[in-house]
Amino acid sequence: MKNLLFEPLEIGPVRLENRVVAAPVATGTSTREGLPTADTLAAHALIAESGVGLSVVEHHAVHKDGRTRLRQPLLDREEVIPYQRKLYEVYATANCPAFIQLNHAGSLINDEEMLNGNFIPYGPSPIRHPYCHLYVMPRAMAIKEIEAVTAQFAEAAKLALRAGYPGVEIHGCHGFLIGQFLSPLTNHRSDRYGGEIKNRARLLFEIYEAVRDSIPGENPVAVRLGVADTMPQKPPAGLTVEESKWVARELAAKKVSLLDLSGNLCGYEGTGNAYFAPYAEAIKEVAGSVPVICTGGINDAETAENLLREGICDLVGLGRILRRDPETVNKWSKERR
Ligand SMILES: Cc1cc2nc3c(=O)[nH]c(=O)nc-3n(C[C@H](O)[C@H](O)[C@H](O)COP(=O)(O)O)c2cc1C
Repeated sequence: MKNLLFEPLEIGPVRLENRVVAAPVATGTSTREGLPTADTLAAHALIAESGVGLSVVEHHAVHKDGRTRLRQPLLDREEVIPYQRKLYEVYATANCPAFIQLNHAGSLINDEEMLNGNFIPYGPSPIRHPYCHLYVMPRAMAIKEIEAVTAQFAEAAKLALRAGYPGVEIHGCHGFLIGQFLSPLTNHRSDRYGGEIKNRARLLFEIYEAVRDSIPGENPVAVRLGVADTMPQKPPAGLTVEESKWVARELAAKKVSLLDLSGNLCGYEGTGNAYFAPYAEAIKEVAGSVPVICTGGINDAETAENLLREGICDLVGLGRILRRDPETVNKWSKERR
């Protein structure tokens, strides 16, 4: 039987040699000014050489207020370019395609030091983030601030390309800013960014369009979408799969290059094998020709191969297993060839 895991796939001009994606995993190794360090390069070299078809490089904040931690890399200014070129070179040298993930944390601050000084985090509404372990009461963003964040994503995408990356991924999950707008639990706005899903998804669509327009048409723009606020086995509350199917359909119509799926306010830590497979399957139904990545609890080649064979997704994402054992893909390859 044909082995789907090691089939190539083209995303625009980017050729993936197999269907395994290194999911973005923050290394916490950048300087406090958001610059990658030797430790960052070393962590990414292991992934670049791991045999994956694509790596999505850990989330980079598009503005210093949009960091979830102080030691999160920034893609916010000219100064980062030479540092980012070095990071990208790690991938280029290993012939491993890499997209870089762009994020704004909104009210999901995970670092107490971020709250020192006069900084007041912002988000869609003055609501405490349900899964933030710190006491953060955000203020509601003004329309002008929403527009500014959208422009920051577009600028970050331009910087990414100048550093060498052929594509970018917009982080729209795990309860960060875009996820806070998507969720009715954190978004109580009564303007055009709140209420029904078409309004809650407006920020995501505007960011997607601004990013798409800021870089050449052939360079891929992926979206990592938080499909629901609850895990698949839990009763729905907040953002629902049905709403996200509509969002995904719209993104597919806007020619998104790749739909990478995860949880929204529920985060990404589930139990069992391939725990987000039901969400991937639901989105795959509406994604048309847009490739779909399923990530979460995929820890063996058989599970990965079955997800592809059953048409649940086109690519499988590996997070923690690849960091524990960067030889995973090589082992899977030996097992299955
Ligand atoms: C330490 C750590 C850091 C993470 N950083 C990111 C990130 O920067 N961006 C993102 O979208 N997901 C991030 N994730 C989520 C992973 O991409 C992935 O979805 C999750 O680990 C589930 O997949 P797994 O079961 O294969 O580990 C992170 C996960 C961990 C454990």
